[in-house]
Amino acid sequence: MASRTWRADLYPSRFHTRLRNAPRMAGPDGPLIKVKVPLIPYLLEHPPPQGITRDTVECFSPGPQNTCVPVGANSHDPPSTLWRLNTTLRSSFLRRGTTTPVFSPRGTVPGPPHNSLEDRCNRILRNMEASLTARDRVGIQDFVLLDPYTSESAFLDNLRKRFHENLIYTYIGTLLVSVNPYKDLGIYSKKQMDTYMGVNFFELPPHIYALADNVFRTMLSEFNNHFILISGESGAGKTEASKKILQFYAVSCPSNRLLNNVGDRLLLSNPVLEAFGNAKTLKNDNSSRFGKYMDIQFNYRGEAVGGHILSYLLEKSRVVHQNHGERNFHIFYQLVEGGEEDLLRWLGLERNCKKYRYLVQGDCAKVSSINDKSDWKTVRKALSVIDFSESDTEHLFAIIASVLHLGNLKFEADARGYATVKNYQEIQWVSKLLGIPNQVLQQGLTHRKIEAKTEEVLSPLSVEHAVYARDALAKAIYGRTFNWLVNKINESLANQDSSRKMVIGLLDIYGFEVFSVNSFEQFCINYCNEKLQQLFIQLTLKSEQEEYELEGIEWEPVPYFNNKIICDLVEEKFRGIISLLDEECLRPGEATDLTFLEKMEEKIGGHPHFVTHKLADKNTRKTLERGDFRLLHYAGEVTYCVVGFLDKNNDLLYRSGKEVMQPSKNAIIKHCFPSSEPDSKKRPETVVTQFKSSLMGLTEILMSKEPWYVRCIKPNEAKQPAKFDDVLVRHQIKYLGLMEHLRVRRAGFAYRRRYEIFLQRYKALCPDTWPNWKGTPEEGVRCLIKHLGYKTDEYKLGRTKIFIRHPRTLFATEDAFQVCKHQLATRIQAKYKGWRVKEDYLRQKEAATRIENCWRGLMARKERERRAWAVKVIKKFIKGFMTRNQPACIDNSEYLAYVRQNYLTRLKENLPKTVLEMGSWLTPPPILKEVSELLQNIYIRYLVRQFVREITPQRKAQLLLKAQTSSMFKGKKESYPFSVCRLFVDTRIALEDINLKVLQTIQHEHIKYSVPVVKYDRNGFRPRLRQLIFTQEAAYLVEETKIKQRIDYSSLKGGFVAKKLDLSLISLTQSVSLVNRSDFFKRGGWFVKRRGVSVSNLSDNFFILHVTCDDIKQKGDLVLQCDYLYEALTKLSVVGDKHSCVKVVQGSVRFDIQPGREGFVEFKSGQESMVYRAKNGHLMVESTRTKSR
Ligand SMILES: Nc1ncnc2c1ncn2[C@@H]1O[C@H](COP(=O)(O)OP(=O)(O)OP(=O)(O)O)[C@@H](O)[C@H]1O
Ligand SMILES: [Mg+2]
Repeated sequence: MASRTWRADLYPSRFHTRLRNAPRMAGPDGPLIKVKVPLIPYLLEHPPPQGITRDTVECFSPGPQNTCVPVGANSHDPPSTLWRLNTTLRSSFLRRGTTTPVFSPRGTVPGPPHNSLEDRCNRILRNMEASLTARDRVGIQDFVLLDPYTSESAFLDNLRKRFHENLIYTYIGTLLVSVNPYKDLGIYSKKQMDTYMGVNFFELPPHIYALADNVFRTMLSEFNNHFILISGESGAGKTEASKKILQFYAVSCPSNRLLNNVGDRLLLSNPVLEAFGNAKTLKNDNSSRFGKYMDIQFNYRGEAVGGHILSYLLEKSRVVHQNHGERNFHIFYQLVEGGEEDLLRWLGLERNCKKYRYLVQGDCAKVSSINDKSDWKTVRKALSVIDFSESDTEHLFAIIASVLHLGNLKFEADARGYATVKNYQEIQWVSKLLGIPNQVLQQGLTHRKIEAKTEEVLSPLSVEHAVYARDALAKAIYGRTFNWLVNKINESLANQDSSRKMVIGLLDIYGFEVFSVNSFEQFCINYCNEKLQQLFIQLTLKSEQEEYELEGIEWEPVPYFNNKIICDLVEEKFRGIISLLDEECLRPGEATDLTFLEKMEEKIGGHPHFVTHKLADKNTRKTLERGDFRLLHYAGEVTYCVVGFLDKNNDLLYRSGKEVMQPSKNAIIKHCFPSSEPDSKKRPETVVTQFKSSLMGLTEILMSKEPWYVRCIKPNEAKQPAKFDDVLVRHQIKYLGLMEHLRVRRAGFAYRRRYEIFLQRYKALCPDTWPNWKGTPEEGVRCLIKHLGYKTDEYKLGRTKIFIRHPRTLFATEDAFQVCKHQLATRIQAKYKGWRVKEDYLRQKEAATRIENCWRGLMARKERERRAWAVKVIKKFIKGFMTRNQPACIDNSEYLAYVRQNYLTRLKENLPKTVLEMGSWLTPPPILKEVSELLQNIYIRYLVRQFVREITPQRKAQLLLKAQTSSMFKGKKESYPFSVCRLFVDTRIALEDINLKVLQTIQHEHIKYSVPVVKYDRNGFRPRLRQLIFTQEAAYLVEETKIKQRIDYSSLKGGFVAKKLDLSLISLTQSVSLVNRSDFFKRGGWFVKRRGVSVSNLSDNFFILHVTCDDIKQKGDLVLQCDYLYEALTKLSVVGDKHSCVKVVQGSVRFDIQPGREGFVEFKSGQESMVYRAKNGHLMVESTRTKSR
């Protein structure tokens, strides 16, 4: 069975999500999940079943209602477990990655470039595995999971364990505890940033990047403002932490060109501010001597678009005085050490710090941990990036140099004991660098302006006072220049866009300080830390408890130290130390530091957190000097030396000192000492009051934002790596209130939100609350969590908020929301796309309808026009038709034209193909009758011409013959029409079919035509088959080999026939015997000429060749029957040139049997064709009547 293994110790949230999703995730191949729960943390919150100890490896499977059911204990996990773990993780990550990003990246914010998802998994696995193996050595990464959570020793143990394994970060819930390693751990690389980007808090080992990333993502998802309060004592690593956060944002936030600019500027403002505001102290080689609150402004896409820096109380006294082992502000050393030769020359400086009184008091101008030269380069470069012009930088360095020259300024007493400048060279340099006339400067430093009623009097100063005035001036110049610098940086970071911004604030303020001698500055710094501690208590401990009470949630109070009592001691109106100090400063008369001390003893002497030498008991008194007072701060006791309090608080710059600055040509000085200032009669606020107000302002700023905390711990005083001072750290644990915070965390709820906000964020997870909940937000939340299946011990519902006990519950909800968000986005997208498409469709439909309308209108108009036109045409047509027979007029002209055209068109298409078809000529309309006839004639001629052109010689010969035939028979013989279509041929008997002998006999006469014929005997009329051959000379009747008869063409003479042929024939027949063989005879007035060839007018194919012969022995006429009658006779007429020898006769033909003896052939029509000899001895030829066509 497939199983899935999961380590719950490092990833409780994921473990639970897995468990919830288990049945779904396992799928068909693995319904069971084996869960490896090897250690304390998970079991802490989920007490293990009996018999299972904290270090046992257990296997769980999901039970009913998302519970875990142990399925066995297995103390020796097989080596393959880790591998399985890896594969499971990887595959499940990858699988999830396909739908929703595993690491809940920043919503729509495009994240920084990542490698593939698999790379990320591998990376996480690597980290995880590293953590796994290290676990026993490294302790736990979240104090919330600490077993004896009330034990300070256990807390310390865990911190120490981790510190020695170079694991400097540990969580208390969402608070990050950081221990200064004092060495480079290599954990701030770009790779590390990538690893922590978009990952839930508990998924990876604690890191400042994880916190930064969570702040960023919370800001984006909740669209609100946050701040990260970095606290800890001096040298604990606050500034470093703030720089790491800044670097993380600069790298990880989505970027555009603008962002890169802001990111660069934010980053580069750091070295500049550090150079001017940080200094080496006994506690820290790079101690912040001012408080810094930096706002990073983000737009809704998470791009950093601007920034703003607020600075708090710069320790100006450091300019003129440093304790032993301490230095002035870094910038002085950087300038002297790193400044270019030209620059130093121009500034009148030497490359030797020892030459300057302001730099040598601490006697440690050179420090091994600080490289002033390279820092100088960084500062110069940074200045150019953050919009400092050349002249700005020049003026700035001139001021720094002038302060050094001022420091070297010496005074001596003149005869009257008044101060005069001893070394003029220095004052000349100051005068040159600040652009102030030498005289004015000198006077300003050695005199004081006193107002006496109406006039001002210059009073000379003693040497001591002059030194004081000089130092005051140096401090004032440096202090104001520092403020100018911050403002200038702010200008360059200013956000141009006015749209709403989200802000992440970074507070890096000087840490709690306890020196052997503590002065006014330490008092202010520690007061500031006291205030911040109060804020922390308010926001976490106190407000937590108050909130539970307010919300009606059951709560077991956690005792904590409330430092309000100390804050009140310092700041309370009229009674507080600050009020008393101000009072002393402002009151007339001889106020001194000691009178201030006395006043305190008098007014607050009984306060439990205040003690002085006078007030202390015997033992304590030993530890106090006469001028000291001691405060019992939340972070411990601090003894302050009262000397200088009044002066520093007054921050007195004699009026003449300010006036001296006014003619300055240095733009920065001009800006810092405006001309209006000296005229102001109002006394400026004291330093401590200003500081108090600015702290109030800061508290307000912070209270309006969501807090996140980084608590920095200093492991030893020696600034050494790998040295963990238990006493020191325990002290810090105590005063930082970490134990109380842990107790509150353990007792409380990890997450709370107002119902409205919670519902607003997660309402999409429940169908009843999505998209809008109609009832009250509380009911909505109830409904929502019921749907989500929260167990009763996982949450509590207060009056206005829901409280969720474990982060995992929230993470599971958040995970579900991340998944759901994508689905919702898809749905919204689908809806939107649908809507857009629908809109498009409707628009298109409307457009289509409009086009359709226009088109239809157009069509209808066209149709109407067409119809109107048609009506007109038809009307005209009808009118034309009606008047068609009238002479051409306007009414019928078109019609007639149409008729004409129509007729001609039709005629063109129906023209007869041949002359013979001329009968089909189209009948013309009346108006075209004449035209038609003309056309017909033309056309006939055209056809004829066409016809003639196409006639071949053969055809022409044929036609000539046919014409001959026609002239002989047309209209005369009944069967003639049928013969027309029968083509004539050259001969009907081929030469081969003629007997050779015959051929030999007649060939020389050139055979022209031969045709088979039937010859009827002249006596008996018996039919005999013969060949009739026409030669050029004569016609031969051939019987096979014999030429039976030769007929000369000349003997075939033609003649005219009497008109009344019947009569003539009858008379001719009767008179035959009477007729002599003379050429002509006359009878009854009729002339009868002897005939050449006789044929009847009927359909028979008989012809009689009349042979003219006077010789009685000669054979007589031939009675022949031929199938090719017309052809034969035509050939005969042509060959024999006897065009008129053929006579068509009616009735009977007389022929000569032999000269002087005649016979008759009678022709008639009958039922059928027959030839017979009639009783009268005539040959009877009956032929069927052919129907004329
Ligand atoms: N995360 C860290 N890794 C390595 N070194 C560190 C780290 N944090 C601090 N340090 C070392 O500790 C020194 C002091 O740190 P930092 O200046 O941040 O202290 P701080 O809390 O700001 O002190 P102060 O209140 O005096 O300004 C740094 O100069 C650096 O050498
Ligand atoms: Mg610092």
